[in-house]
Amino acid sequence: MGKKIFSGVQPTGNLHLGNYLGAIKNFVELNNDDNNDCIFCVVDLHAITINQDPKKLRNNIRETVATFIASGIDPKKSIIFNQSRVSAHSEAAWILSCVARMGWLNRMTQFKEKAGKDKEKASIGLYSYPVLMAADILLYDSTHVPVGDDQKQHLELCRDIAQRFNNDFKVEDFFNIPEPLIQKQFSRIMSLKDGQKKMSKSDLSDLSRINLTDDKDQIINKIKKAKTDPMPMPATIDELDKRAEAKNLIGIYSSLTNLTLEKSLKKFSGKNFSEFKENLSQVLVDKIIPISLEIKKLLSESNYLDQILLEGCKKADHIASKKIKKIHEIMGF
Ligand code: AMP
Ligand code: TRP
Repeated sequence: MGKKIFSGVQPTGNLHLGNYLGAIKNFVELNNDDNNDCIFCVVDLHAITINQDPKKLRNNIRETVATFIASGIDPKKSIIFNQSRVSAHSEAAWILSCVARMGWLNRMTQFKEKAGKDKEKASIGLYSYPVLMAADILLYDSTHVPVGDDQKQHLELCRDIAQRFNNDFKVEDFFNIPEPLIQKQFSRIMSLKDGQKKMSKSDLSDLSRINLTDDKDQIINKIKKAKTDPMPMPATIDELDKRAEAKNLIGIYSSLTNLTLEKSLKKFSGKNFSEFKENLSQVLVDKIIPISLEIKKLLSESNYLDQILLEGCKKADHIASKKIKKIHEIMGF
């Protein structure tokens, strides 16, 4: 049987290589399999958990759609829509927030990281964000959720919420318990400036990430400046595990070329980093530049992008409003 795929990406700008290798590349493969039903959501309600400039947000919503399509997602074979337009998401999030427990949310490490030292100043939305994510997934009876490694804990919470709802209201199997699809390798791409830190949209240094809209010179320059260590390229996985920056760069190379880590190591072991970096830049340019050019082209066709969202929203709303009706019945509304 085919899978019901659901995933979301926040329209917060600067979509980068981590988003691509950790998530979007996987979306494309799943979407290419005609047995699967795929829904890709631009999660604009999640984006406002931190302050957003409304004008920039509108552009970023379009840019996220453009990135999906430029990366190879076929809008004819999937539903692409933005979350805020389908009101069932907000509604289900409220209902599920009465099912989820404070203790469960208190364990979420992403909130702790994002809220930083002054938790009192974080929005309530930032805290309850994983409940909205659960609503997204559960409204569509999703069976599989492709995400990067950082979303693993949120998916476990989603499964707990679904289970608890089914138990509390004695509606076994009402919410499907979704499976995470997290790649075994390369599911966490690190910053080019610090091998201990995740590559992130919000890093102040643009040199820390390869943006999917970067041009050739930017890519080459960022790889040239990427942090390494003074030793030659490692020969074994054990050695690699002790060298965070080398591991990240070789991981990126392997993921882009579909080689195993072992094969990539064999190719470069003992050589110096500059030779490896030239090769890495080349594969990055070959992969990213066509995507970057296509994003820029699509952004000049905003009517086309808006039309895709409008059609996607109609289809998503059709599915989600049926589910929310059933939820109302179960709740006694
Ligand atoms: P976000 O931009 O936070 O909405 O993330 C969109 C998708 O990209 C999610 O599935 C994340 O898990 C994934 N992602 C974000 N950053 C990285 C990273 N550095 N490495 C791997 N996957 C990532
Ligand atoms: N929280 C996810 C992130 O920041 C985005 C997201 C929202 C999501 N809703 C989702 C991912 C549903 C998968 C399924 O990356």
